[in-house]
Amino acid sequence: MNFQLTEEHLAVQQAARDFANNELLPGVIERDTEQKFPKEQVKKMGELGFMGMMVDTRYNGGGMDTISYVLAMEEISKIDASASVCMSVNNSLVCWGLEKFGTEEQKEKYLKRLATGEVIGAFCLSEPEAGSDATSQRTTAEDKGDYYLLNGTKNWITNGNSASIYIVIAQTDITKKHKGINALIVDKGMPGFVVGKKEDKMGIRGSDTHSLMFTDVKVPKANRIGDDGFGFTFAMTTLNGGRIGIASQALGIAAGAYELAVKYSKERKAFGKALAEHQAIQFKLADMATKIDAARLLVHQAAWLKDQKKDFVKAAAMAKLYASQIAQDVTTEAVQIHGGYGYVKEFHVERLMRDAKITQIYEGTTEIQKMVISRELLK
Ligand code: CAA
Repeated sequence: MNFQLTEEHLAVQQAARDFANNELLPGVIERDTEQKFPKEQVKKMGELGFMGMMVDTRYNGGGMDTISYVLAMEEISKIDASASVCMSVNNSLVCWGLEKFGTEEQKEKYLKRLATGEVIGAFCLSEPEAGSDATSQRTTAEDKGDYYLLNGTKNWITNGNSASIYIVIAQTDITKKHKGINALIVDKGMPGFVVGKKEDKMGIRGSDTHSLMFTDVKVPKANRIGDDGFGFTFAMTTLNGGRIGIASQALGIAAGAYELAVKYSKERKAFGKALAEHQAIQFKLADMATKIDAARLLVHQAAWLKDQKKDFVKAAAMAKLYASQIAQDVTTEAVQIHGGYGYVKEFHVERLMRDAKITQIYEGTTEIQKMVISRELLK
């Protein structure tokens, strides 16, 4: 593993940093308060190539590696984790899954538009009664010959309303358990598909999280990803990659809070000197920086393994497990360093602390990551 970033990597990192500071920072507090999806900003992210970074240029993507992707995710997450979850789901759950497993027709019809950000995608696995226990899908996709009849409800879907293209996991043959599950591409506007209520969330409040209802939706067989019964493996494999995206989001949230804490501790005076001159604060900053560096090494290792086409399942789960944990620690300490100012919105760290929590829940909870890691260890 090479610790030296290339010129291209540094350029991507700088472009993402500039975009985050110039385009995402203004209005981020209002979008959080009003639960407003960053529509214009996501459109610009598409124009700058952030929505399909790893997709082959043949399909209008950026043709970049996973290291570039995690660098951009970290910078964008430092400022606006609502924008970065939209980016992460589109890049790693929707585009990557479609590129890896979709047919040429599906790539032409869907991937090319998703990769430019002209439209965005959603990944629909969770249900009211199937979150961590993902094999217990209640949504059904009944085989009707040349189409599937889709019925059921999906919960907590990121990009739920803003997406145009949805990858929906559903049970076709319950007797086959997880081998009877399919992954179907559903277009917004297909008769019987309704976007349900928007969730009022603790964090990432600018992202639009909805339930989705499917009632007798006719999904053409041509929209199935992979062979009959491949849907669960599709979901698991795609989530392995997705976890690198969420790990880099958690890393960015932590790094953003840390940078604010360093700045504040140099400016704010107490007992006649800057906070940064007090050993109590210096030790906090030292702990925060060490955790962030360790998380970054795990994230980059997972990204590097994926780029090398090596097994990255354990590395991705470890990166997500650790980065999401230190995001809790670091953001909480950043609020503590800010004192009373940390508890109010203008100083950003309280939002980062709220945003951090979801990284321990979505794309596999902390407990699921431990299951994945221990299964890999004990294979
Ligand atoms: N990679 C590839 N395949 C995997 C896998 C992995 N990480 N984990 C399991 N599988 C495969 C197994 O090999 C097995 O297939 P075969 O029988 O063909 O070998 C199949 O999946 C079933 O596996 P298990 O018997 O181990 O199933 P299980 O029920 O015991 O456990 C689980 C599976 C790992 C717990 C799984 O249910 C899981 O990962 N749950 C978490 C789901 C999740 O991450 N949800 C996030 C929602 S999406 C989201 O949050 C997106 C967003 O909007 C931000």
